[in-house]
Amino acid sequence: MANENLSKAKNAKNDEFYTQYEDIQREINAYLEYNPDLFRGKTILLPCDDPEWSNFTKFFAQNFVNFGLKKLISTSYAIESKGIETEYYSSLFETESPKFDADKTKTHGKIFTLTRDNDKSDKIDIDDLEWAYLEGDGDFRSDEVKALRDEADIIITNPPFSLFREFLAWIIEADKKFVIIGSMNAITYKEVFPLIKENKMWLGNGFNSGNAYFKPMNIQEYAQGVFNEETGLVKFRNCCWFTNIDHGRRHQPLSLMSMADNIKFSKHKEVRDSGYKKYDNYDAIEVPFTDSIPSDFDGVMGVPISFLPKYCPEQFEIVWQASGNAYANAPKEIMIMLKFDPTVKYGGGLGAAVVDGKAVYSRILIRKKVSE
Ligand SMILES: C[S@@+](CC[C@H](N)C(=O)[O-])C[C@H]1O[C@@H](n2cnc3c(N)ncnc32)[C@H](O)[C@@H]1O
Repeated sequence: MANENLSKAKNAKNDEFYTQYEDIQREINAYLEYNPDLFRGKTILLPCDDPEWSNFTKFFAQNFVNFGLKKLISTSYAIESKGIETEYYSSLFETESPKFDADKTKTHGKIFTLTRDNDKSDKIDIDDLEWAYLEGDGDFRSDEVKALRDEADIIITNPPFSLFREFLAWIIEADKKFVIIGSMNAITYKEVFPLIKENKMWLGNGFNSGNAYFKPMNIQEYAQGVFNEETGLVKFRNCCWFTNIDHGRRHQPLSLMSMADNIKFSKHKEVRDSGYKKYDNYDAIEVPFTDSIPSDFDGVMGVPISFLPKYCPEQFEIVWQASGNAYANAPKEIMIMLKFDPTVKYGGGLGAAVVDGKAVYSRILIRKKVSE
């Protein structure tokens, strides 16, 4: 039991990070620039939220009319289920409401909905949110929240980091449109990578310069440079938005030089000195930097994961990945096509790309798209 509580608290620590208003606005604007009617007549669900404090709820409630929404639903997870060790205070919004229940506030999730002009102010906004306690604790896996998921057209949130795989599977099984935040590391997961390869999920517009800042619930011990005392924000370098909603950036091809020009003029000494090496265990070449992808190479190329935010499906196809666990989950025919050699030893899990006997970082294997 003690162990169970400990791991609950540890997960909670990693889960209690709140998204900034500007980040939500910048991301959502990218989809709206591409399709201004994206949200018209739609129901949006914001699960794993804390509607009283959440910038997601605030942003969509403020833009309810502007976006032409039909319904906004936001749900929270009960504080006792979060496994947080510090004191929790209910919001004034809740305690001043006649619905307030001193027991339920700890053990039940809450649901906030917005559909109409409740306060007859001639506008629909945050003041028109209606709320109630959920039957259960608001776990996204509960039947109650699943029913809300099924009712929604689009699911948007920053889900618990510790349950990312499960959360994504939860969305995919219901075949919903989504915009969610996750770690870049998730890209190589066996549940995530096939979705990216098949263009069923891609990276969103992204955080400013690739840095995401979140508000933590508790101030914990952070490595130097991670927590900023002035802003009260924690910096994550490897967070991104995952989505299956189109945006313009996704269709902008990378502007690239030929292989010969890269070898002559690349800003990367490594490319100028050694050119493009062939892997020892794959029939593909190593491209250590996204901006060094040669425009005129027709074979398979291994590129860093940081290529994905710049991936344009009209320019390249994703063949597979080369990472520590890539082999175990690979379709056999792809490994045959890539002439993968499992006898090449390098000391890691089977699947990482090897150059001159040394494994390189995780790579995405891509090929120039042949236009039909
Ligand atoms: C990364 S935080 C983000 C909160 C909010 N969506 C935001 O971005 O500001 C994830 C939230 O999910 C909640 N959570 C954790 N496990 C959950 C579960 N099983 N079901 C629903 N919510 C959960 C956490 O307590 C936390 O508040």
